[in-house]
Amino acid sequence: MNAIDFLLNEKITAAEFIDVLNRSSLGQRRPVDDLVCMQGMLDHANLLVTARSQGKLVGVSRSVTDFHFCCYLSCLAVDSAFQRHGIGKELIRLTQAQLGARCTLLLVSAPAAVDYYPHIGFEHHPQAWILKPGAKIV
Ligand SMILES: CC(C)(COP(=O)(O)OP(=O)(O)OC[C@H]1O[C@@H](n2cnc3c(N)ncnc32)[C@H](O)[C@@H]1OP(=O)(O)O)[C@@H](O)C(=O)NCCC(=O)NCCS
Repeated sequence: MNAIDFLLNEKITAAEFIDVLNRSSLGQRRPVDDLVCMQGMLDHANLLVTARSQGKLVGVSRSVTDFHFCCYLSCLAVDSAFQRHGIGKELIRLTQAQLGARCTLLLVSAPAAVDYYPHIGFEHHPQAWILKPGAKIV
């Protein structure tokens, strides 16, 4: 495999973002047909690490964080042709490297990645809860 370049907070277009999500398979679990949503996801995330091979975008880690207490890693994706070469791990390592000493990294795993996170050191948190879009507080 050619050398991979990792970049911090480079601007990428929504089209590039959608393309790498689709090439990773994560596109099936993200609203890739809703350009407004995809552009908003890029515009309002505040920590982006990208991986490029010979200029081609092959991996992305997109997070929303306060840099001090919590960091939600919302999209981690590596082009299928480049998976299992350590790119995902390096994207997370570089994401974590931007965070303060008290900052916890949180994420919701895609079904295909449930064995990945424990394998690389994440702990399962049984007290995590989500409120789905439109769900009402009762
Ligand atoms: C999950 C994903 C980001 C992992 O990235 P990657 O670059 O392929 O993974 P790495 O090369 O960093 O893998 C590190 C280790 O985890 C293992 N691993 C990789 N994918 C795995 C998986 N799905 N399940 C279990 N272990 C996995 C690797 O074999 C490697 O093990 P080793 O260090 O013992 O050799 C990537 O496979 C992907 O984009 N998948 C599709 C989209 C997705 O599910 N994203 C997660 C959204 S929450």
